[in-house]
Amino acid sequence: MIQKNISLAQYTTFHIGGKAEFFAEIKRKEELGEVINFAKKHKLKIFILGRGSNVLLPDKGIKGLVLKMSIKGIIFQDNIVYAGAGEKWDKVVAMAVSKNLGGIENLSLIPGTVGGAVYQNIGAYGAELKDVLESVDVFDIKSGEIKKLSNKECLFAYRTSIFQKSAGKNYIIFGVILKLSTIFFPNIKYPDLTKNFNLYSHYDRALDTISKITLNEIRKAVIKIRKSKLDYPTASIGTAGSFFKNPVITISNFQFLISNRPDIKGRDLGNGLVKLSAGQLIEMAWWKGKQFRNVGVSEKHALVLVSYKKAKAKDILRLANKIQKSVKTKFGVTLEPEVKIYGKHGIM
Ligand code: EPU
Repeated sequence: MIQKNISLAQYTTFHIGGKAEFFAEIKRKEELGEVINFAKKHKLKIFILGRGSNVLLPDKGIKGLVLKMSIKGIIFQDNIVYAGAGEKWDKVVAMAVSKNLGGIENLSLIPGTVGGAVYQNIGAYGAELKDVLESVDVFDIKSGEIKKLSNKECLFAYRTSIFQKSAGKNYIIFGVILKLSTIFFPNIKYPDLTKNFNLYSHYDRALDTISKITLNEIRKAVIKIRKSKLDYPTASIGTAGSFFKNPVITISNFQFLISNRPDIKGRDLGNGLVKLSAGQLIEMAWWKGKQFRNVGVSEKHALVLVSYKKAKAKDILRLANKIQKSVKTKFGVTLEPEVKIYGKHGIM
């Protein structure tokens, strides 16, 4: 079951990554105990990989044991859904929409697995996973026990959770329970969606029209928008979606920023903070569509970095670094990676 020297590039959507010293694909939760005992016996660090759609793995590879999470299973019971961590996230969304259950339709076509969705608290078009998540089933590496974490215990925030913090690093997510709704009101406030349904600024006057929009119509619209705006990985082009997080700055810093550049967009978070669009700042710094040998910035969306044949993690990192420096110099704003970057010292 445990293999040696497996190339990880084939398991990431950037198509980048060296070899795993040890590698095991986990298909049933019962296999976890055995594999973890092996890691403990040989003092190996454990690294969990889902679909590899939000990671940049080191060219040197990973020392330790890489577990590819492939536990499957989707069970619906009324409005409750249980999904294995290795299931494709979008399969769960498609099934929920076909059963007329609301809450995750705005999260359509997000690449990756259910486990990755929880780890990252995925969000798009005005929805976040944390809003429908009931609990998460985990395997505690330290104690060997199986535990259930409540939504609150997962410490969800913008693109993060307990699983990214030291308190959660011993947990392996193997399943998740979501609570969806049988009665829902279409969530189409996100500008791209409002526009798609031809409502523009008439949102408040069109509640009757909005209430008639079906879950399937929203799913179709989100898929259409995502396909038109975001590059998806193909055999020859790699990407991991948004490379940076949208930065959050204070209102006073925002006011200073727009006094020079009134076109900079910001969303007031209501707590003295404003969220900027990293994509807009990167575009304003002239990076959109730029190509450098085997890596580049997407022509469609400046927040997405792309890799071509033979690209290395170091090429992506060099480009990301240059973008960070130029946005910092131009706007005084720090961009933090959204993609999880692994180096020889662990997560960077
Ligand atoms: N924008 C530009 N230039 C660009 C890209 C965007 O000016 O090249 C502007 C747009 O005009 C828009 C604003 O930036 O006004 C926001 O753009 P968009 O709606 O595309 O969303 P985003 O903030 O760039 C976030 C998520 C995406 C998610 C979309 C849709 C993050 C880091 N990214 O992007 O998530 O799909 O919203 O909700 O929060 C991902 O995490 O991998 C991801 C793709």
